[in-house]
Amino acid sequence: MNPGNNAWIGVLGGGQLGRMLSLASRKMGFSVLTWTGGDRSGAASPADKILDKPFDDPEALDEFTKSVNVATVEFENLPNETLKKVEQRIPLFPGSKAVSICQHREREKMFLSENAFACVNFKLAENLESFKSGLKKLNSEVIVKTAEFGYDGKGQLKLKENLSESEIEEAWKTFEGGRVVIEECVSLEAELSVLVARGHHNDTETYDPIENIHRNHILDVSVIPARIPQDIQNKAKQTAVEIAEAMDYIGMMAVEFFLSVDGRLLINELAPRPHNSGHHSINACQTSQFEQQARAISGLPLGSTDLICPTVMINLLGDHWLDPKTPPDWNAILSIKGANLHLYGKREARPGRKMGHINIMGADLSEALVKTAIIREHLNLPKL
Ligand SMILES: Nc1ncnc2c1ncn2[C@@H]1O[C@H](COP(=O)(O)OP(=O)(O)O)[C@@H](O)[C@H]1O
Ligand SMILES: [Mg+2]
Repeated sequence: MNPGNNAWIGVLGGGQLGRMLSLASRKMGFSVLTWTGGDRSGAASPADKILDKPFDDPEALDEFTKSVNVATVEFENLPNETLKKVEQRIPLFPGSKAVSICQHREREKMFLSENAFACVNFKLAENLESFKSGLKKLNSEVIVKTAEFGYDGKGQLKLKENLSESEIEEAWKTFEGGRVVIEECVSLEAELSVLVARGHHNDTETYDPIENIHRNHILDVSVIPARIPQDIQNKAKQTAVEIAEAMDYIGMMAVEFFLSVDGRLLINELAPRPHNSGHHSINACQTSQFEQQARAISGLPLGSTDLICPTVMINLLGDHWLDPKTPPDWNAILSIKGANLHLYGKREARPGRKMGHINIMGADLSEALVKTAIIREHLNLPKL
């Protein structure tokens, strides 16, 4: 696919990741059709065309597949039926199989363990019996997660070890009728992520690992380069490539890792798309994760992932908005050299909703961190 030659990329999903993919793709000369699924957040506005219909609408499927040369997803919680129908007609990268693994924590854990990738100790449960026995076998503090539709810590419950029978029964009520993954609660030294791109010719590129700091289970800050020993960073990069290869994956993928206080590097979860922790790449890498996605899915050579300068990314949540329609005053923040504001065009702010991010670049990491501290004070965010 050659950009500039009426080459269309179709994006399933109308959120901020699709928005930034549209911006990067259009910059290169691609045209973009976004199929929102009927979600009108406003984030899809930079696409050339928006198809604002549900994902199970057969006419929308026709229109989408007839209009684009290649399709991709910007989030994983898409109906697998739709993805299968799309890929019967046009190339879809990543394919429905990869997305179905990444959208379901149980399938994801099975894929990782069957392929001998190190992840947290876990048990699966689908009823009170298996829930009880899973808790007993893990015999530690745990985090219970719904198998499907969880994000930003939603659908998760932390439980202490040695609960009484009635406490276990009470906890199971939250998940009744569904399937869950019970995970050992890891004492975290750090969290990191690796973005890996795999192209049409099995070529791969990885970005330098990113150090991630979460607040209330939502990504708060990413620090690049990660303040983590180099041998662990190398191992994380190598693991990310091996996962992409084991899945025969094409496109951008993010692998989230835990580094435990006892030194284990464990895979937390996979995202079959560009990732919140990779937003620094828009300003700070030779090729942004979004341009890389456009290159990978359209069969172009992958771009350099080299870091241009140390960067800190702060997520902007709806909590900072003065009211649902009124953002904070950006003047003080934008007067800081190296601060780059990215807003997602969402019409309404809500607590916890991702509204944008700021990339803060420095000549070295300590400079970026000093500027970050000033910006966090303006936003009334706690010190790092
Ligand atoms: N097993 C675990 N041990 C320790 N912390 C965890 C565990 N699982 C999740 N967390 C914390 O919760 C965050 C969100 O969980 P995650 O599984 O990544 O779900 P989400 O899809 O919401 O990102 C993680 O980044 C980590 O900070
Ligand atoms: Mg996560």
